[in-house]
Amino acid sequence: MVTALLNYPSLQRRVNKAKHKRALAQNFNHNMNTMIKIFRIVILSFAFITVVSFRLNDHKSAAMQLSPDPQIRNKQYLPEPRLTSEVSVEEALLNRRSVREFKDEQLTQGHVSQLLWAAYGITDKQSSPGFLRGGLRTAPSAGGLYPLEIYLVCGKVEGLKSGTYKYDSQDHSLELMMEGDIRKDLSNAALAQDFIAQAPVSLIFTAVFKRTTQKYGDRGRERYVCTDLGHSAENVYLQAVALNLGTCAVGAFTDQMVSMVMQLPDDETPLYIMPVGKY
Ligand SMILES: Cc1cc2nc3c(=O)[nH]c(=O)nc-3n(C[C@H](O)[C@H](O)[C@H](O)COP(=O)(O)O)c2cc1C
Repeated sequence: MVTALLNYPSLQRRVNKAKHKRALAQNFNHNMNTMIKIFRIVILSFAFITVVSFRLNDHKSAAMQLSPDPQIRNKQYLPEPRLTSEVSVEEALLNRRSVREFKDEQLTQGHVSQLLWAAYGITDKQSSPGFLRGGLRTAPSAGGLYPLEIYLVCGKVEGLKSGTYKYDSQDHSLELMMEGDIRKDLSNAALAQDFIAQAPVSLIFTAVFKRTTQKYGDRGRERYVCTDLGHSAENVYLQAVALNLGTCAVGAFTDQMVSMVMQLPDDETPLYIMPVGKY
């Protein structure tokens, strides 16, 4: 009986119409849900960008309060590095591991001195002609061109105020670039890897690529600069072991955000963040 009724053309048209209406309503609901989701994402992205740009502007104004003249800026000479150790190279190699959890304890200026010296300290001033940029160093470098720059992001170091410092290998000193603790912002710039905010300090490696590409062209860009970086970073790893400290090479970050948080010059590219601390 029902089948017979459904076969009736006018009834069939009505059934089809009702089906069509229901489909339209479902479609409308689906589209509305998608629109609401997109709207939410747009609002959240806008809020995120606003917060980040406010924070970055804060950094900009902090940096601008400092004199652009390096002669007038704070220079902090580091203690002489130790040249002997209880830990052999073999033990340091054996115990080297990437450490991602740090105690909330301060480091000493001795620690900082030792880590920076290991990274890029000058070990032979005498026998180096002028083009070697101050002398031969703890790490080898293609053509002796030393394309790296190293910064210290300081949160907790005895007698050193929180801020961002640039390491000067030539006189083993730090130059204050920006006051204030930026560890949390640095961690956010590195995909929120939290241990960067935990560590009392981080070493930031940047490269001025043109120092190497001027001589070696593409080979310099594609190989030598990052090979140089690997040498320096491994020195930091091994030195950290000898000091009973931990570190981790961090390459996952948004270049632009790190550059902005650090207020890097345009010709410097950030390559590594190495948080260091007790563990
Ligand atoms: C180029 C490079 C990038 C890396 N980036 C990160 C990183 O962003 N975050 C992290 O936790 N570890 C990072 N690491 C550390 C590696 O995860 C680690 O070296 C690897 O797991 C081996 O462990 P080990 O260093 O303890 O021997 C990086 C290592 C290298 C060489």
